[in-house]
Amino acid sequence: MKILFIDQSGQPGGAELCLMDIARPYRDRCLVALLVDGPFKDLLEQQQIPVQVLAQQSIEIRKDSSLWLALSRIPALLPLLGQVVKLARQFDVIYANTPKALVVGAIASLITRRPLVYHLHDILSASHFSHTNRQIAVTLANRATLVIANSHATQAAFIEAGGRPELTRILYNGFQPDNYLIPLHEQEALAKELDLNRDTFWVGHFSRLSHWKGQHILLDALALCPEEISALFVGDALFGEADYVQHLQAKVKDLGLENRVRFLGFRNDVPQMMSLCHLITHTSTAPEPFGRVIVEAMLCGRPVIAANAGGATELINSGQTGWLCESNAPQQLADQIIFCHQHPEQSQVIAKAAQQKASQDFNLSVVNQQLAQILQPLSSEPT
Ligand code: UDP
Ligand code: GLC
Repeated sequence: MKILFIDQSGQPGGAELCLMDIARPYRDRCLVALLVDGPFKDLLEQQQIPVQVLAQQSIEIRKDSSLWLALSRIPALLPLLGQVVKLARQFDVIYANTPKALVVGAIASLITRRPLVYHLHDILSASHFSHTNRQIAVTLANRATLVIANSHATQAAFIEAGGRPELTRILYNGFQPDNYLIPLHEQEALAKELDLNRDTFWVGHFSRLSHWKGQHILLDALALCPEEISALFVGDALFGEADYVQHLQAKVKDLGLENRVRFLGFRNDVPQMMSLCHLITHTSTAPEPFGRVIVEAMLCGRPVIAANAGGATELINSGQTGWLCESNAPQQLADQIIFCHQHPEQSQVIAKAAQQKASQDFNLSVVNQQLAQILQPLSSEPT
């Protein structure tokens, strides 16, 4: 089966990293079409996954800009649509990986009569999308042959927003567990390179810098923790959230945390960076659709505290494979961080159990087999 994947982003967010893993087994019979250029293209090329950028000066694609805007610009998008239609004719299936890819993919599917798959990485609820954007996404997705949801939470929100339940399948993100086992000597070398004090208790946060990812919640919690606890933030503002970055920097000063916080920017060595942490926190203020960083922390054998909402509740069994704390609750988060600091052995037992569970439940080879099965019926679709 030849697949045309479409993604709106040039940045390597979670949906894009998931797509890279999904496309890899199809690399001799697929193309990833990107609506904008960016470092994601380089990552795909490094993996020998065919990629083509369909850049248009006339569209500015931001993760949070409105789908309505994208639709209203369809006249300006005609050349882009023409490109996608032409490409789609060379493939059996159109696979839209993001909402704006869905807009383009749905029209191309209508014209070329190729089946449309929509991989839904977002929770289509009021906390993430406006009413209009939800309506557009659901209306277009309901025309797809298949809607692949990245968690039960994502599937439930889709149905709640008017999505057709019978179209949906659930597919978790998959990971290669071996990539997360980092030898001690590598950890030591990296800590030295970054000048990270090995005696400090490091709490890690690994997400793009964006208000709903809640880095500010960890800062508030840190201010409630003893001085020997520090935080390191890995990730950058991928989708133009410069104001939030300034807000975080001001907050560090206001809380007097200058000596206990490191911002390390976007890194391509997340497993190595996670291995340097004693604990990893996830603090999204709105329900997380899946939460790759939670599973990655588990695979690294590091204890995880996540916000108790959305997909995170499917990844962690609180008290057994990590902890779930209420979202937007810095005091509760601080209490749990202090517990982990004071009970390293108990935390390690939980982290070990999580590591074992995550390597079974989120194994990429299993997930890719599941995807092949999900897509199987499409190979006999009339084109
Ligand atoms: N990530 C990364 N470098 C960074 C920060 C994050 O490679 O500096 C990766 C991280 O390891 C994870 C992904 O970006 O695989 C983020 O996915 P997640 O599902 O956690 O959140 P999203 O940003 O997609 O909402
Ligand atoms: C999206 C979601 C994130 C999920 C990722 C991969 O970016 O925000 O929660 O883990 O897609 O499915």
